[in-house]
Amino acid sequence: MTEPISDATSADDEQLSSHTMSELHEIASRYPQARSALLPMLHLVQSVQGCVTTAGIEACAEVLKLAAAEVAAVATFYTMYKRRPVGDYHVGVCTNTLCAIMGGDAIFERLKDHLDVGNDETSEDGRITLEHVECNAACDYAPVVMVNWEFFDNQTPESATQLVDSLREGDEVRASRGARVCTWREAERVLAGYPDGRADEGPAAGPASLAGLALARRRGWHAPSGNGVRGRKPTDVVQAVEQADTRRAESETKVSESGAEPKGSDDA
Ligand code: FES
Repeated sequence: MTEPISDATSADDEQLSSHTMSELHEIASRYPQARSALLPMLHLVQSVQGCVTTAGIEACAEVLKLAAAEVAAVATFYTMYKRRPVGDYHVGVCTNTLCAIMGGDAIFERLKDHLDVGNDETSEDGRITLEHVECNAACDYAPVVMVNWEFFDNQTPESATQLVDSLREGDEVRASRGARVCTWREAERVLAGYPDGRADEGPAAGPASLAGLALARRRGWHAPSGNGVRGRKPTDVVQAVEQADTRRAESETKVSESGAEPKGSDDA
């Protein structure tokens, strides 16, 4: 879902501090092409202001020497950037096909009732922002809920309700495959490239994701080397690419000498 640029709020009036401006410059300096830093810079703005404000867009534009419209185009394209302030915890319920039929739709409906909010709205206490999200690439644990982009696997309406209640109570909450859940703003700072030292907390890939690998190992299956690049050494791949280039150049020379129109010559 893309949020319209016209959804600006009172947070738009807040100017960024000199400290945040210097961090924006620092992020920009990490990249050979400064404009490549725009995505983490927008995360930094969200970590400070809770969403991408107009002031934040203008600050990024100033640092990167871009037009504000160019920055706004990016900020309104990607769904991880929000134009309205997000609560302490962003709860994303996957309602894509697999999760939906496994119970994602029921979870989303239950949470809407429980929190008394609609999609992309924040509970009255400012703690939870609920949003239905598209496939999180965690279908093997459907239905999946994400809190500040951390996975909560195999959820039910009851477990999801308990989850948001624990978050609202301030209890320590651990993701199924990830770290202790921090606040939305803290998570945004990590996405801006400022690690919080918790990247290795909790389990990573779970058994369901590794089932195919375990089966292959039990049966002694290996990926075929074939004629493609898979299974080949990098030097082999480079050599194969060079040979293909040589063959193509020879073929183009022959075509040009014959006077025939090269196939696909008007593709450009
Ligand atoms: S459909 Fe929900 S994670 Fe893929």
